Amino acid sequence: MAHVKTITHISGDWQDAEADIFAFGLFESGGLSPRGKSADEAIGGQISNAMKSGDLKGKSGETAIFYGESNRVLVVGLGKKKDFNAEAIRSAGGSAAKAAIGRKLNQVLVEAFGDDNTKYAGQALAEGLILGSYQFLDYHTTDTDQFELSAISVIGGNKGGMEKGSVIANAVCLARDLENHPGNVTTPTKLAETAAAIAKEGNMKLTVFDREEFTEMGMGGLAGVAAGTSEPPKFIVLEYMKGKKSQKPKIVIGKGITFDSGGISIKPASKMDEMKFDMCGAGTVLGIMKTLAGLKPKMNVVGIIAATENLSGGKACKPGDILTAYNGKTIEVLNTDAEGRNVLSDGLSYASKHYEPAFILDFATLTGAVLVALGHEATGVLGTNPKLMERVKNSSEKTGEKVWELPLWDEFCAHVKSDIADVKNIGKPMQAGTIAGAAFLKEFVGEGIPWVHFDIAGTAWGDRKRSYFYKQGATGEIIRTALDVIGA
Ligand code: BES
Ligand code: ZN
Ligand code: ZN
Repeated sequence: MAHVKTITHISGDWQDAEADIFAFGLFESGGLSPRGKSADEAIGGQISNAMKSGDLKGKSGETAIFYGESNRVLVVGLGKKKDFNAEAIRSAGGSAAKAAIGRKLNQVLVEAFGDDNTKYAGQALAEGLILGSYQFLDYHTTDTDQFELSAISVIGGNKGGMEKGSVIANAVCLARDLENHPGNVTTPTKLAETAAAIAKEGNMKLTVFDREEFTEMGMGGLAGVAAGTSEPPKFIVLEYMKGKKSQKPKIVIGKGITFDSGGISIKPASKMDEMKFDMCGAGTVLGIMKTLAGLKPKMNVVGIIAATENLSGGKACKPGDILTAYNGKTIEVLNTDAEGRNVLSDGLSYASKHYEPAFILDFATLTGAVLVALGHEATGVLGTNPKLMERVKNSSEKTGEKVWELPLWDEFCAHVKSDIADVKNIGKPMQAGTIAGAAFLKEFVGEGIPWVHFDIAGTAWGDRKRSYFYKQGATGEIIRTALDVIGA
């Protein structure tokens, strides 16, 4: 775990502050901020010279460093003024943090980019800075080249927004850590322990059902997937009930496959290691609940995680087996590698039966097909309620976490009808795999409950270029969007 946890807010003159590097924003054909101009003067006009020469333009993502006698000045491109938004601020924050880490500088001071004093701008800046400071260094024991940023200050901007952004970013970093740790560390037990720590911090009620209990309760989907592993599986329920009793709870559900080998329908060896990330849906839920523990909003939210490994073994579920989910529906397992939907069948049924949900959001690294459709650029979203879907899209615009809706038409729902059971766990070969996954899940959402499914298999980790991501590791993407949808 390595990231800066708090941000110091400064309101005076930047020249009186202490830092190893001072960062200012530059708009493309819009010039420097007043603070940036004073920094330019302090270092003998080097920035304006670079601008005049055409070397420095202020394009989004551009950075340049200049040297004064006793300090360094970083100029961060903000792009065109007309396109300036929260994501530009986040991105500039990430660039500033990365620039400091790259040069092994302990303290960075940034201005409130674009002189935006709104609460959301403050939140976005804190998110960019903290997420940009994140590194996953836990397993380097001999490499002495490791460096962690120690302090971030911001001059100007909205203090309350920054405090909120810091809470959110820390929660995203918690999720990233759980996700980046390998399957022998982030086990279902570890997820339950993390849930317990969050419950304690946020005064939530935690219930954890173990294999014997959830099997007895009728969670045949989870029990079926867990049959092949001796690592104890868990069904985790976290209740955050700080709203009015009459207020229906918002429910978030995560796929928590702490390692997905494919089971008997085993995956190819290449990249199988990446299947430690198959619990990113669970990471999303824990990130959301961790944020609630920190922000303490007056609302009711329930977080549910179905966690197990998916392995093959003497007791493992086999292709052709039929499982009975918690809502009584039968599942014909035609591919044991389509295990995420099997465990989520119980999560969705449990939520629908035990609560009167305002809505349900589920998060899952469900299909390789979503990567084919949308690459690493967007999360696939599907649902049954246009109003809730609209809310998801609006939140995604704000957070910069792109989503793209795929259709859940009846024609697709027919793809998962089984000849001998209620549903089968795969659709048609090579066709609309992400939609088939959602069509399956829909069978387990109670009648009339607004629901959106997020397929994060393309966005939860991977080869993505954003200043506030760390290498190819876990991104923690969609936590921020979900929090916005929830209204936290
Ligand atoms: N965890 C995988 C999905 C996945 C694959 C995520 C690659 C990220 C990268 C999931 O459990 C799975 O294996 N799904 C199958 C479903 C198929 C058998 C219907 C898939 O996508 O191939
Ligand atoms: Zn699988
Ligand atoms: Zn999986």
